[in-house]
Amino acid sequence: MKLGIPRERREGERRVAATPDTVRQLVAMGLDVLVETGAGDGAGHADAGYQQAGATIVPVLDTTALDVLAHVRPLDPNTAASLHKGAVTVGLASPSSDLPAVQALADNAVTSFALELVPRISRAQSMDALTSQALVAGYRCVLEAAIRLPRFFPLYMTAAGTIPPARVLVLGAGVAGLQAIGTAKRLGARVFANDIRPASADEVASMGGTFIRLDLETAEAAGGYARQLSSDAGTRQRQLLAPHVAESDVLITTAAVPGRPAPLLVTREMVQGMRPGSVVVDLAAESGGNVEGSVPGRDIPIPTADGTGHITLVGLKDPASAMASDASRLYAKNVANLLALLVHDGHLTLDFGDEVVDGACLTHAGEVRHRPTADLLAARTATAAAGQEGTR
Ligand code: NAI
Repeated sequence: MKLGIPRERREGERRVAATPDTVRQLVAMGLDVLVETGAGDGAGHADAGYQQAGATIVPVLDTTALDVLAHVRPLDPNTAASLHKGAVTVGLASPSSDLPAVQALADNAVTSFALELVPRISRAQSMDALTSQALVAGYRCVLEAAIRLPRFFPLYMTAAGTIPPARVLVLGAGVAGLQAIGTAKRLGARVFANDIRPASADEVASMGGTFIRLDLETAEAAGGYARQLSSDAGTRQRQLLAPHVAESDVLITTAAVPGRPAPLLVTREMVQGMRPGSVVVDLAAESGGNVEGSVPGRDIPIPTADGTGHITLVGLKDPASAMASDASRLYAKNVANLLALLVHDGHLTLDFGDEVVDGACLTHAGEVRHRPTADLLAARTATAAAGQEGTR
């Protein structure tokens, strides 16, 4: 069976779905691994490394001839449409937003596995790319803040005077938030955090942060995820957070609610209450933004309320791709570990009785198996049909 590893096409994407290490693992599974020239360049892996690991380097990956395609970014609809019936894909698929590609995969009877859908159970942790990439993003966002902050993170006691440690506030203490807390702590900052899931208080403490308790409803849904706060509770949360934001040198926001746009936690007015020189990094900028006015990939100066300076608002974009070497190392392992569940002695064996295989499968045999995505596609088709009816 031919497994293809493409050079990622999306602008700025430097990660790759296999490393020479995982190619060895894939070849041992009985797969014939084809790597597109330059696929690993952004992550520091030259073609020669893949070749030595047993892969064949091809100038352009012929997707029509592949049995398995492993990728990082969601496939574009044309690539999805080029795959043959029964081909298997493994990678990130953004099922709730990249609907045309999902439709193309289903129409072509491709069996696609979306890493976002891997169940978050202990047995599947080694395949959990949301976690591995959030870890990278959480680390990176603190470094992005630190290089922009015109102050030290740690306490310095010198002959020329004492410099107090920076104060860092992290909102949203999931995988990325906890990594941000740990990284800021290792840099010597005083770190505070808030989340709406009660369980996160102990996790924040275990990373060395101080949990800020707000007098708010808790909002925990099934599976340990957050649910969306009511509009009143959201307003109250912003009011209660405002003084904590104002006294922070660095604010990092990582809050997300599965299947929904990121919640707005910080208004422009709250940012304007911070001291001149402070830095805000919005890790959720690409999914709607936790901070009013953040734009993915841009630094925006926000004037302070008293006009004495400005705060830098950073809309973080592709943070995991910015650390492509280790991000790919983890991602490629996630992909290989999932493939190990699907391939035995060089043959595909899809056991839908396995809850990981079943849960991660997005499309199979012409159907969208993931119910919420199928519902979104049905709603989209109904809207398009109503639009056509209206123009008649
Ligand atoms: P996520 O990326 O969906 O959200 C990030 C954080 O934002 C969450 O902690 C959430 O509670 C928080 N949040 C949402 N709305 C908020 C608001 N208005 N204010 C403040 N915070 C808000 O979460 P992630 O990182 O995917 O983790 C979600 C849960 O899944 C956690 O309980 C985590 O421990 C658990 N998990 C379990 C794994 C496993 O068992 N294999 C692996 C990874 C995570």
